[in-house]
Amino acid sequence: MTGDVLSRFDLSGRHALVTGGGGVIGTVLARGLMDAGAVVAVQDLTLEKAEAVKAHHAFAADVSNADACRQLVNDVDTAIDGIDILVNCAGINRRKPIVDVTVDDFDAIVAVNMRAIYFLCQAVRDSMVRRGRGSIVNISSMSARYSYETISVYAATKAAVSSMTRSFAQEWARDGIRVNCIEPAVVRTDFTKPLWGVDHRQRFFDELTPLGRLMEPDEALGAVLYLASDASSYVTGQAILLDGGITTGANWDQFA
Ligand SMILES: NC(=O)c1ccc[n+]([C@@H]2O[C@H](COP(=O)([O-])OP(=O)(O)OC[C@H]3O[C@@H](n4cnc5c(N)ncnc54)[C@H](O)[C@@H]3O)[C@@H](O)[C@H]2O)c1
Repeated sequence: MTGDVLSRFDLSGRHALVTGGGGVIGTVLARGLMDAGAVVAVQDLTLEKAEAVKAHHAFAADVSNADACRQLVNDVDTAIDGIDILVNCAGINRRKPIVDVTVDDFDAIVAVNMRAIYFLCQAVRDSMVRRGRGSIVNISSMSARYSYETISVYAATKAAVSSMTRSFAQEWARDGIRVNCIEPAVVRTDFTKPLWGVDHRQRFFDELTPLGRLMEPDEALGAVLYLASDASSYVTGQAILLDGGITTGANWDQFA
């Protein structure tokens, strides 16, 4: 590859905020954005968790509170002199059968996974317009289009994230702001251990995934760097599905 090709992925001079940056995937993304040259601010629920990433700046905020979303964006905007890249990675789940889901479960998941993204994006717009460019990358999920049992509310919020990605992209394209998302399948983290940490479930994923294994956290990075950078300068409103081929179909002969 020539230097010119690689320069499309260069984030030198870009300022990024990664929410939920202290989590497993968020840490990979924050460090990858730094490696690509960006100044990176990481937010998580506690300062301790955000600081552990060793990014350039760390912030504590509870994004389930819409006012806290606006405050966070203001604080980061001031600290790093404007935001060009927002990676919305904070997310939660409470896995339960539909009949056991409470109103509190429903509201808690919606507040972090859906409402926070809406108001973080809304808050960051002015900063991106001032900077003359912006790229928002939302961390949605394959569950936006392919569900497993016990994730009904989570899956609905992720479908909303993929939908908001299109709406925001459409409305803000002429402001120079691109908005895209990734939809990862099950990533091997503590977040998903209840799904794969049992023998027969591990086998289920291994056998039904064409690539034959679960996704590793660092496999989310390439798509996010692509979407955050000028490498994707004509791409907006899109979802990149990282699913190991699961949604391509099935091969019944493997069970012969
Ligand atoms: N792990 C997977 O299989 C998988 C698959 C697809 C999508 N995702 C998505 O990727 C993102 C990261 O997941 P992960 O596996 O790294 O999980 P994780 O639990 O390690 O990371 C999530 C982070 O969000 C933070 N967070 C939670 N609630 C918050 C709040 N109210 N305010 C601020 N921060 C809060 C947590 O403290 C945590 O650090 C999530 O949005 C998740 O839905 C994960």
